[in-house]
Amino acid sequence: MANHKWQTIFLFIFINSAMAKAVTYSVTTLGAKPDGKTDSTKAFLSAWAKACASVKPAVIYVPAGRFLLRNALFSGPCKNSLITFRIAGTLVAPSDYRVIGNAGNWLLFRQVNGVTISGGILDGQGTGLWACKNSGKSCPTGSTTLSFSNSNNIVVSGLVSLNSQKFHIVINGCNNVKMQGVKVSASGNSPNTDGIHVQMSSGVTILNSKISTGDDCVSIGPGTSNLWIENVACGPGHGISIGSLGKDLQEAGVQNVTVKTVTFTNTQNGVRIKSWGRASTGFARNILFQHAIMINVQNPILIDQQYCPDKKGCPGQVSGVKISDVTYQDIHGTSATEVAVKFDCSSKYPCSRIRLENVKLIYKNNRGALASCSNAGGTSAGTVQPTSCL
Ligand SMILES: *[C@@H]1O[C@H](CO)[C@@H](O)[C@H](O)[C@H]1NC(C)=O
Repeated sequence: MANHKWQTIFLFIFINSAMAKAVTYSVTTLGAKPDGKTDSTKAFLSAWAKACASVKPAVIYVPAGRFLLRNALFSGPCKNSLITFRIAGTLVAPSDYRVIGNAGNWLLFRQVNGVTISGGILDGQGTGLWACKNSGKSCPTGSTTLSFSNSNNIVVSGLVSLNSQKFHIVINGCNNVKMQGVKVSASGNSPNTDGIHVQMSSGVTILNSKISTGDDCVSIGPGTSNLWIENVACGPGHGISIGSLGKDLQEAGVQNVTVKTVTFTNTQNGVRIKSWGRASTGFARNILFQHAIMINVQNPILIDQQYCPDKKGCPGQVSGVKISDVTYQDIHGTSATEVAVKFDCSSKYPCSRIRLENVKLIYKNNRGALASCSNAGGTSAGTVQPTSCL
């Protein structure tokens, strides 16, 4: 106990001496208003300009309250590589979805190094745009709530993202990104509201997070390597998806992805790999799905290489994406449909070295589930239920 107390005191001193060197800019002293209706974009951008120009580490402090922000670009490179956004309050997007609906991004960090976002609620106010999209009218595409593009050494911790217009968080062209204790929440019928999308990035870690949304909880795009996802609760949503891959003829592959200790509740898919049914240089290899619990999931284990939305640009073609070395280890729970395991691979490039180990999926009331394979090769070990078709 005494030991613990000293550790705490030393940690306290350490953090305070580290922070003492940092300069702090509070957005309210720069003119931001916590009233939820005054446009505070300028104050946030001027805080960023000061923090980015500082040669010492900088903190941008957002106190409690609601801050209305239009789309904002936080651009680097900066003069220091330790900028922390400490957010106690909520950032709110304009309630009229048209204001940022065609901007692409609401809050975009570009070419930054060493940025931490700690705490805070981002409210994308997307419900109006979802209603427009769900009514079949022509609507703006919508903006991603938070994006990091061409950036390194990023930490996102304890952040809540609510009701994004489109994707909640996008990591594109980044190295070394740690996300932990992130909470994403949007309705199960909100279109294209992926929780976290990663592409063209290496060394991304997503830990201890909870994602409820209308599209993929995590989507993993071309050019992703060394991705680690652990201890995530997903649902509602479309599950964790590698893909869609192979949309383009020349495309970077996905490799070394670990998805560990994830619970899927009432999701459309559990762990999925998805590629377009058309020619491509893309691939997915060295993928591990380990310790997953499926609760009433429609497609718990799925490889689908025949993705062809609206049957445009792919009919009659086969996927060029090569899928190999995919391991499913300790996956159990319930499937909401009879086919719990489905490997529908490319006839030109069959899936190879697929491995099923201790997989137990049951279909309603303990009735037998089925596995279905086409063009898939591999092995199984331990208990595998439904019986492997590899
Ligand atoms: C795979 O990725 C993990 C991080 O997720 C990393 O620690 C490991 O070194 C990578 N392995 C290889 C062979 O690159």
